[in-house]
Amino acid sequence: MTTKKERMHAGKTKDDADRVIIFDTTLRDGEQSPGCSMNLEEKLRVADALQGMGVDVIEAGFPIASNGDFEAVRGVAKRIKNSAVAGLARASRGDIDRAWEALKHAKRPRIHTFISTSPLHMEYKLQMTPDSVHERMVDAVTHARNLCDDVEWSPEDGTRSEHDFLCRCVESAIKAGASTINIPDTVGYTIPDEFAALIEMLRNRVPNIDKAVISVHCHNDLGLAVANSLAAVKAGARQIECTINGIGERAGNAAMEEIVMALRVRGDVMPYHTGVKSEHIAQSSHLVSTITGFNVQPNKAIVGENAFAHESGIHQDGMLKHAGTYEIMTPESVGLNKSTLVMGKHSGRHAFKAKLKELGYELGDNAVEDAFVRFKDLADKKKDVFDEDIVALVDDQMMRADDRIRFVSLLVIAGSKGPQSAELELDVDGDTKFTKATGDGPVDATFNAIKALFPHDAKLLLYQVHAVTEGTDAQAQVTVRLEEDGKTVNGQGADTDTLVASAKAYIHALNKLLVKREKSAPAALSA
Ligand code: KIV
Ligand code: ZN
Repeated sequence: MTTKKERMHAGKTKDDADRVIIFDTTLRDGEQSPGCSMNLEEKLRVADALQGMGVDVIEAGFPIASNGDFEAVRGVAKRIKNSAVAGLARASRGDIDRAWEALKHAKRPRIHTFISTSPLHMEYKLQMTPDSVHERMVDAVTHARNLCDDVEWSPEDGTRSEHDFLCRCVESAIKAGASTINIPDTVGYTIPDEFAALIEMLRNRVPNIDKAVISVHCHNDLGLAVANSLAAVKAGARQIECTINGIGERAGNAAMEEIVMALRVRGDVMPYHTGVKSEHIAQSSHLVSTITGFNVQPNKAIVGENAFAHESGIHQDGMLKHAGTYEIMTPESVGLNKSTLVMGKHSGRHAFKAKLKELGYELGDNAVEDAFVRFKDLADKKKDVFDEDIVALVDDQMMRADDRIRFVSLLVIAGSKGPQSAELELDVDGDTKFTKATGDGPVDATFNAIKALFPHDAKLLLYQVHAVTEGTDAQAQVTVRLEEDGKTVNGQGADTDTLVASAKAYIHALNKLLVKREKSAPAALSA
């Protein structure tokens, strides 16, 4: 059995043996997704949403990776009161000290330290012998434990590690003070039966395993991250590491919404529960997708646009007779409500403020006023204003809070006679700049104008337009992906004018690139 103190750290109560701790790593592993980067403001918004959902542990970043990561972990640590806040550190005292510096003001701080234990990683990546990896790990966990009561240790590439060595390391990590042992399937290689057997093997062979919570961290390279995580829970794991929308390195991590709903819907065969309020899922998914610029695929389980849509006549007929015929959970249980007409141009500030609250936004007075002005502007242009419009409008405004480059105005001449041209005004670090450019079409002219005002070598990898709602007066939501020196970023913009939305999306991506330029991936440890 774990000690009372350890259980409390993990967010469990004494008799709650079937409670699965949800450890969210959207802000750390999720942010390591190619194309993803979040600034401090964005990370704080995601952290607020995670806390609001009832997530037990929020991994806020990798403090040694950059000053931006350090500040983000520190900011989240200072702000979040109900969830534990974790920071990642390699097995080095420098990393651990930096992580602690960022975490020390948290109400419930956790240091998460890791080192690879598979033969492949130890020989080629670390160039260390198993004995020196073991020694380094014990030193790291001991050092972390001297700073922080709550220490988690992960054997990276755990699923491809030799069992004897894995058992030896897990036992030593617990002896050195780790109260959570996280087994990562770093490369998404394992399958459910095999992973369950690995967890069982650890429970049977590591003599002090009952002094720690077993956690799992599954990547989705074979599409099995959620299945593997659930199999591990059935085998005795009680913490799952996951991300909103399943974002993360390569094919991503286990998707939190799928784990939470699988446990909720199939409690009959998996009698475990989490503390996550599933009704917050849709809003958090939307927030993460807007901030990262990663659209959720339409057929994605739980949060995809089609997850609750019924196209075929037979299904629609069944649904009308009894929703249970084709729906195993209600849209409301994941926080989806039918599109509701909000208000028109005669709606007042009071009603608008109430609507923002209903949609989950807690904005300061200035931000509400800004949003209200933009809402009025939208209501003048668009006959029907829906919840989705308000969400797009407010997200668009909030995304730009810390931007160095800001959109001011755009006038485009388009049409078949050409040449298409764009007159653009931007604010760059507080200076207003203006230019006129031409291009092969209005989008190209607009992007050329941005390049003229803010010269850069980034390559445009993706340009995508979505309509937020139906109708020709719908707001356009544009995604732009840029690449510079192997680093990719996604930007988003929304407006009833597709070209204005395009300019905003490009500028948003450029601002993200400026954040990402400061970041460099920490190298592997070496002996
Ligand atoms: O995938 C992985 O192995 C990780 C560890 C740092 C837990 O992200
Ligand atoms: Zn990972």
